Amino acid sequence: MERTFLMVKPDGVQRNLIGEIVSRFEKKGFQLVGAKLMHIPTELAEQHYGEHKERPFFGELVDFITSGPVFAMVWEGENVIATARQMMGSTNPKDAAPGTIRGDFGLTVGKNVIHGSDSPASAAREIGLFFKEDELVEYKKLV
Ligand code: CMP
Repeated sequence: MERTFLMVKPDGVQRNLIGEIVSRFEKKGFQLVGAKLMHIPTELAEQHYGEHKERPFFGELVDFITSGPVFAMVWEGENVIATARQMMGSTNPKDAAPGTIRGDFGLTVGKNVIHGSDSPASAAREIGLFFKEDELVEYKKLV
């Protein structure tokens, strides 16, 4: 079963959007297999956003993601990587469709409420950066 890494960013946590965001993925039918409220150390933030190292906004990105607690999660389900990206909406909230998380709650491209892995390779890398294997649970099939 596919897994993805999703994270409510500091703006989303401070605006009390954790419940709303978790609820959307639960209602869609995905299963939460790991979660933690945490402050990201600078070194982890730099690793997580390593692919943006050369971008002019890299410093701003690292400063923002380490500015307050985030809610890091691993979700599991069929096509969860692509479907979660659709549910999040475009990176820049001004382009994100109503009904998506960023379309409904995002303000700016930096403060865009949520991060989600963009491919199976990033999902594996990001899950590994934030979670140990024994921090992820398995569900028995109930229905
Ligand atoms: P995210 O999905 O977390 O991955 C990289 C982040 O870079 C992206 O969301 C945006 O929040 C951020 N980002 C992209 N473009 C800019 C920009 N021009 N200025 C500041 N942040 C940006």
